[in-house]
This record gives sequence, structure tokens and C-alpha cells, in this order.
Amino acid sequence: MSEPATGDSNEPPANRATREATLADGMVLTVALSAVPDRFDADALVGRALEGAARELALALAAGGSEPEPATSYEGIVGRSAPMRALFRMLERLRGSNATVLITGENGTGKELVARAIHRQSPRANRRFVAANCSAFNDNLLESELFGHKRGAFTGAVSDKPGLFEVADGGTFFLDEVGDMSPGMQVKLLRVLQEGVFFPVGATEPRKVDVRIIAATNRDLPTLVAQGSFREDLYYRLHVVALRVPSLRERREDIPLLVDHFLAQQRERTGRTKLLSRRALERLLAHDWPGNVRELENEIERMWVLSGDETLLDEELLSPAVRDAGSRPPSTAPAALPAEAGASEPVAAGVPLAEALASYERRLITAAVQRAGGNLDRAADELRIGRRQLVRRIRELGVPMPVVDEGRTSGQ
Ligand SMILES: Nc1ncnc2c1ncn2[C@@H]1O[C@H](COP(=O)(O)OP(=O)(O)OP(=O)(O)O)[C@@H](O)[C@H]1O
Ligand SMILES: [Mg+2]
Repeated sequence: MSEPATGDSNEPPANRATREATLADGMVLTVALSAVPDRFDADALVGRALEGAARELALALAAGGSEPEPATSYEGIVGRSAPMRALFRMLERLRGSNATVLITGENGTGKELVARAIHRQSPRANRRFVAANCSAFNDNLLESELFGHKRGAFTGAVSDKPGLFEVADGGTFFLDEVGDMSPGMQVKLLRVLQEGVFFPVGATEPRKVDVRIIAATNRDLPTLVAQGSFREDLYYRLHVVALRVPSLRERREDIPLLVDHFLAQQRERTGRTKLLSRRALERLLAHDWPGNVRELENEIERMWVLSGDETLLDEELLSPAVRDAGSRPPSTAPAALPAEAGASEPVAAGVPLAEALASYERRLITAAVQRAGGNLDRAADELRIGRRQLVRRIRELGVPMPVVDEGRTSGQ
């Protein structure tokens, strides 16, 4: 503790008297004695208060920060938004459980990541996690894949082969795209869920296994049940605990976190450091992400690869769909991109990047000006650039124009 100090000489003396405490790392706490009511022995009281505050602050600093930061991930699942925190709370409640879980969510939202986290937190954590994609095979192959087959069961079955259910025995079986299973396979899966038994293809004796099932689908199972293409009894067997993984559109505030996460992954892979420009981030924030986190992951990897030796990942490295999304206001955005700006357009080899970008920009501006009926203010708004910048780019790029006068633009 230091002696009472005096402050600025222009202030009245009562306001100038202060007490200070210096913390171990050099940080100084200061209290104005004028803040202490007369009836207290100000010096002693403030001294004690400062010591207490100094101790608490020193402890907080030693613990790694004075303010606890909200967690930004759970078991490697990155997110801090309200829907992700709700998901993390559910995962926390599932810790230690063996219950069947049904995970729903759009493509690329992280359903498999969630399934693996559930497995790691289960009593089966040191047994196997086996994943099978139910939509990747036709019925015969899927049956043999899941349940195995006996030698000679069909042409090419030269020896007994265990199915994935047997491989997963004692562990967790992740059934991906379960909504795509045929009615015949649904019956067989129901039997495993009810009795833990199945028949390998060509076998007469049933096999018994102990597997925990986690199923996932991007389809709306209640609708499939209503349509009669998904068995209701199987739905209820799978639906013991249901988790929905939110789309990226529902949690845009997680985009910067995810971007950092994927940039860090690239850093680790390549041993290099690159930064994302603010404008590129703005575009990433404005995009709708139909492919969710997987699409964002691919976008970052793509930018990284295309950037070559550049350390700044700027917006020109974004794929056309993402760049375009960032240049129109979401409310008035047309449902589809102009056909020529589509990401699926075949890419010509050997075109210099600057030329390709200029050509794309020319088409984008032409389309915006046409949509705005030649009104440059509206077109500039849509492209989210200033009117003067738009006029300059129109001249530089030679964009064909409707009738234009210097002040206002008339329609065609
Ligand atoms: N919250 C997240 N944090 C970090 N990475 C994520 C997150 N969500 C998804 N990913 C990553 O995105 C990719 C897609 O995730 P995953 O395969 O789990 O999604 P999915 O919902 O199973 O997709 P699909 O429906 O296409 O099978 C993976 O590389 C995964 O690591
Ligand atoms: Mg998946």
C-alpha cells in the first residue's frame, strides 16, 4: 500500500485525496477518499477494502482472467450462440447415458461430430464408434454391410464376413441418414433395437449384440411417418432422446468463431499464418450457407489454397456464390443467382485471375443495373457500394448502360 496521494491541483482538496494499492503485476487500484462517508475512519476502511479488492483481483488474474469468458466450444464442437449452448446443455445431460439418440439437422451441421461427442462421454467411450451411411448402399449391400453374411449366401460371398453391428458390439453404432432406409431394412433394424438380435445374410441362427444406437437424418421423420414411408414404431424406438443441430443460418454469430477455428486448422496443417480481411468476413456473415458448417469449412480451405503466398485472405478469393451473397441486401435478394454467376459453372483453365474477376464483376454489375431498371442509386445499394464507386467501375469495366445522365439515371 502506498501513502495517500494527491491528484490534480485544480480540484478541491477533499476530492483529491486517494489511496492506492499496487498489485503484483504492477496494476494500481485507486479509490477517492471523498467517496467514503465522514462517520468512517476513511483511511483505515479504504485501506482494508483496497487490500481485499487487490487480493481478489490478484487471484482472478492468477486464474487466467478477471472475467470468466463464455465457453466457445464443447467437446470440439465450436459454438457460443443460444441454440448451440442449448445443445451443449443437452449433451451434458446425456453424459454417462446409454440411451438411443436421434440427431436431426440439415446437411453439414455437425451431426456426426455430435454423435462422436456423445460416444466419448458414454460408458462405452473406450469401445468402438462405428458409422454406417444408410443411403450409400442399395438394400442388399446395406444388409450385408450391417449384418454380415455367411459364406455362399450370394455370388461373391467367398467367406463369412461380420457385419458392422458385430464390429460395433459393446460400443456405439452411428446410423447416418436413417430416414433413407427402405421399409425392409427398417424392420430388421427394429428387431435389433427391440431384441438386440439380427440374422447375417444366409444365416439361420440369429446373432446377439449389445450396441448403443445413435441415428441421424436430415429428413423430417414425422412427415415420412405420416406419408407411410417410415415405420412409426421404429421412429419411436429411435426418438428416445432427440437432438436437433441448428443450421448455420440460425446462428450467424458463431461464424467468426468457426472461421477462426478453421483458420487455426489450416495454420496447423501448413505451418503458415494467414488473416481474413474484414470485407471477406462481412461476406461470409451475409451468406446463407445451405451447406452449413461443412460449406464454411470448404470455403476457408479454398481461400487458403487460392491465396498462394498472400497472407491476407481477401474477398476476391471467395467463391462466387459467397461473394455475391455479400453484395446484395438480404431482404431484397433475388431467390436465385444470375445463371452466369453460378458456382457450378465450369471453370476455364489458364485464365488470369484479374481478368476472370473483372469479367465476373462486369456481369454482376450489368445484372444489378438491369434489375434496378438503370437506377444507379438502387444498383449501388444492391451491390452495397457507393454510387461514385459504381459509376467508376462501370466506366472502367465498360458495362453496357441504359440511358444515363450525370445526376439521376432514367429507366429504359
Ligand atoms: N460446430 C462445429 N464446430 C467445428 N466443426 C464443425 C462443427 N460442425 C461441423 N463441423 C465440421 O463440419 C464438417 C461437417 O460435419 P459433420 O460431418 O459432422 O456434419 P453432418 O451433419 O454429419 O453432415 P452430413 O449431413 O452432410 O452428413 C466436419 O468436418 C466437421 O468437423
Ligand atoms: Mg454426416
